[in-house]
Amino acid sequence: MASVSDKILGDVSAYYDAKLAEHGVSPAGVDWNGEASQMLRFEQLLHLIPSGAVVSVNDLGCGYGALYDYLSQQNVTCHYAGNDISPEMIRAAEQLWSEQDNVTFSVGPEPIAVADYAFASGIFNVRLGHSDQQWRQYIESTLDTLHKSSRIGFGFNCLTSYSDPEKMRDYLYYASPTDLFDLCKRKFSRHVALLHDYGLYEFTLLVRKSPS
Ligand SMILES: C[S@@+](CC[C@H](N)C(=O)[O-])C[C@H]1O[C@@H](n2cnc3c(N)ncnc32)[C@H](O)[C@@H]1O
Repeated sequence: MASVSDKILGDVSAYYDAKLAEHGVSPAGVDWNGEASQMLRFEQLLHLIPSGAVVSVNDLGCGYGALYDYLSQQNVTCHYAGNDISPEMIRAAEQLWSEQDNVTFSVGPEPIAVADYAFASGIFNVRLGHSDQQWRQYIESTLDTLHKSSRIGFGFNCLTSYSDPEKMRDYLYYASPTDLFDLCKRKFSRHVALLHDYGLYEFTLLVRKSPS
């Protein structure tokens, strides 16, 4: 019998396969409502990386690799490794970025190797029919993966429980920023930043393994 997390990964992968099939390689194809907000999320995550640094990056739930494009536009010199549970996403990413020699992609829920930084943008939002308790456990175990696969720090975003009630949807998960801040502080590092001031119905948590 499939475990809860196998079931979650199977359901989520099928959801994103269908989005990509419907909308193609585009923000809508990874279920974002536009490029501007997709880039705004990346901007928050990249507060972790000092300007001018040469780094390696794991992108967990990379979609078609839009973060790689953003890093290049910001002149961040990096080795980028994207992984995604959706084989269709990885096929699209490989087609887009196959000519870059500093980029690798893999199918699966865990990065292949440890990198300086690990990021996850948008992977905790769509919980489909899974319960609050199942999804909270799934977030915590995925944060363990981000922690294990990063040397210097990791960052991720979530929809916020401070969203306007009339805009909230049952198939989405709205995390408590204070709950996840507390989890990160207690479990991963004393150096945690909570960004909840960038105008979307979500927040970003940045975990540094040592002070900035
Ligand atoms: C909202 S999309 C965002 C894609 C990309 N991060 C971006 O911002 O353009 C979420 C992606 O994460 C993938 N995903 C969700 N949960 C995952 C997990 N636990 N491990 C790996 N990939 C995951 C989905 O298949 C999907 O491609």
